[in-house]
Amino acid sequence: MKTVRQLEPLRDLVRKARAKDQSVGFVPTMGALHAGHLSLVRAARSQCGLVVVSIFVNPLQFAPGEDFARYPRQEEQDTTLLARAGADVLYLPDADLFYPPDFSTAVEVSGVSEGGEGKIRPGHHRGVATVVAKLFLHVSPDVAYFGRKDLQQAAVVRRMVRDLDFPIRVVLAETVREPDGLAMSSRNAYLSAEQRRQASLFPAALFAARERAAAGERDAARLESATRRELEAAGFMVDYVEAVAPDTMRRAKRIGPGSALAAAVRVGKTRLIDNVLLLDDEAPKERG
Ligand code: PAJ
Repeated sequence: MKTVRQLEPLRDLVRKARAKDQSVGFVPTMGALHAGHLSLVRAARSQCGLVVVSIFVNPLQFAPGEDFARYPRQEEQDTTLLARAGADVLYLPDADLFYPPDFSTAVEVSGVSEGGEGKIRPGHHRGVATVVAKLFLHVSPDVAYFGRKDLQQAAVVRRMVRDLDFPIRVVLAETVREPDGLAMSSRNAYLSAEQRRQASLFPAALFAARERAAAGERDAARLESATRRELEAAGFMVDYVEAVAPDTMRRAKRIGPGSALAAAVRVGKTRLIDNVLLLDDEAPKERG
């Protein structure tokens, strides 16, 4: 695996792969890699000729007072994990070159970015869309891989790709979970042993909502409020619980095939986000 820190050597590697008719797969990350990230790398490995992974802790998507400074950074371990997972190129852009001091451009994806995380973290999705657009222009992949774990981020990226005609196919990969159900996240490292035990009650409440949907519940508000009550009873501060259509992130009164329940909670200072599919895409439509 080659590690590159600058744009021109990256473009050279991509050009050489293209000259050999290889397709280019891209997995953007912020590092502190875990099995969730590596599942995206493996998907890219199985489908593309050249696999590029970026690690860049993007300051634009953190608000002042968020965890940018203490976000885990473990370049050496990440490099080993990526080489083992079969990545060809690790792109580690230099922050000063990536964002010169007078950087003044932003990509704003309205609507889909505004509920959920957007309400709690204003500007977050603008930072994500801006860095992803810039990384897409750097790597120019054929396929880009994102996790369903960050459902709204995936919706924002897909909308941006469609609206701006990026010639890129976006692939969504399933959420990889710990044995007790907790979605893998670089931020799980912030949890104390006690908080880590509590954290497993978060996915449990989401899975319970999926069970209710499977048993016939279609009322979005009832699903949301039952889940919120359960999370509060388990000691979480709840930022939001929303039943949404995953492409638009819009809420509806009744859930349907493809609806997801997305939520964010806080355990101490740590925010956890997760979502579950409430009804499979191919679930029969409601009658009447
Ligand atoms: P990061 O949190 O490092 O995540 C990188 C990718 O891994 C995202 O597509 C995310 O959805 C996916 N991912 C995270 N946890 C996962 C899990 N448990 N199972 C499957 N996939 C998982 O998301 C970002 O970085 C940044 O916002 C980024 C897109 C890189 C832009 O800065």
